[in-house]
Amino acid sequence: MKKRICLLAGDGIGPEILTQGVAAIAAAAREYGHELTFEHALIGGTAVDNCSNPLPPETVEKCRMADAVYLAAVGGPKWDAFPPELRPEKGLLGIRKALGLFANLRPAVLWPELAGACLLRGQTADKGIDLLVVRELTGDVYFGQPRGEERRDGRRTAFNTMIYDEDEIRRIAVTAFDAARLRRKKVCSVDKSNVLETSRLWREIVTDVHAGYNDVKLTHMYVDNAAMQLVRDPSQFDVLVTGNLFGDILSDEAAAITGSLGMLASASLGSSGPGLFEPIHGSAPDLAGTGAANPLATILSGAMLLRIGLNMPEAADCLEAAVRKTLAAGLRTRDIMEPGNTLVGCAEMGQAVVENIKKANKN
Ligand code: IPM
Ligand code: MG
Repeated sequence: MKKRICLLAGDGIGPEILTQGVAAIAAAAREYGHELTFEHALIGGTAVDNCSNPLPPETVEKCRMADAVYLAAVGGPKWDAFPPELRPEKGLLGIRKALGLFANLRPAVLWPELAGACLLRGQTADKGIDLLVVRELTGDVYFGQPRGEERRDGRRTAFNTMIYDEDEIRRIAVTAFDAARLRRKKVCSVDKSNVLETSRLWREIVTDVHAGYNDVKLTHMYVDNAAMQLVRDPSQFDVLVTGNLFGDILSDEAAAITGSLGMLASASLGSSGPGLFEPIHGSAPDLAGTGAANPLATILSGAMLLRIGLNMPEAADCLEAAVRKTLAAGLRTRDIMEPGNTLVGCAEMGQAVVENIKKANKN
C-alpha cells in the first residue's frame, strides 16, 4: 500500500519528537511492503509566527488530502498573551472540528517495564492499568454557542454553553461500545446527570445505544466519583466514555497515574476521512532544543496511525514490539529514568526503536 501522511510538527519539542515518529512509522511500514509519503503543514504558534493564523486554510486542505494526519504538539509561553483567535490551541481545536474528529481515543496503560513509575500505591499498581478513555471531541462547552464576554449590570460577565444533541451522543456511544467489544467488554459512561440537563440526555442516549450491545456491560458514574475512582482503583475500568470537557480532565488524570505521560498515545477519528494521531502530552517548551524529550508517545501514536488510520496491523504490532524491546534493553529518556537504566536522548531513543524494527523480521 502507498499512503500519504500530513505532518503537523507544531511547537516546542514537536519537531524533534515527530522526526523520530516519522522514522519509526516509515521503517515499520517498509518492513511490510508499504510506502508512506510525507508532507509538512503549519499549525499552532509556528503558524501564527509565519502567517498570523494558528490554522492556515492550506493546512486544512493538506490534511483533507492525506490518508492520516500525524501531529506532535502545539503551544508555548510565547503565545500565551495573544488574543484568543491567535492562540496555538485554536489551531488544534480548529483542525479537530474541520476534519469532524468527534471521537478521541486515549489509552492509558501501565507498561510492565515502567511499573516503578506508577504514582499509585504498590498494591493498586499491581492490579494494573489498562483503560481507554473515549472522549467526545467536537461538541460540549468547547464549541457551544453562545459564548463570550459582555457587561451585565456593570460587571464583566463571561459565559459558555454546554450543549449536546442526541446524534452527537449516539455516535460517540457507538464508538465506545465498538471499542469495548475488542477489549474487556465493559463501558463506564461518565456524566453529571445529578445536576446537568446535557448529562441527563447523555445518560438516556447511551443507555438506549447499549440496547444493541448486550454482550457489553454498561455502568454509569458521576464525573466527581470517576475522578476519585481513577486514583483509588483504576483496574476497575475498561472503556470510559464521556463528553469533551470531562474527557479532557479525566484523560489527563488517567495518563498521569501511569507515571509516564511521555508514553501515552491518542487517536482522533471522524466517521470518514483521515484520522489524527498525536501524543497526549504537550509541547514542553522548557525541553525544546535540549534533545532530552521522550519521543515514545509520538512513536506509539504512530502505531495507532498505522493500525487504525491506515489499516496496517502488522506494521503497528511490529512498532509496538520494537518499543517494548527498547525499554526492556534498559534505554530510558530522562522523564522515565530509574536507577540501573541507560539514559538516552530523543534521537537515540528513536534510532534504537528503528533498529529494533529492522531486526524484528530477521530473527
Ligand atoms: C488536549 C488539550 C487540548 C484540549 C487543548 C490544548 C486545547 O488539553 O488535547 O487534551 O483541551 O482538548
Ligand atoms: Mg487536555
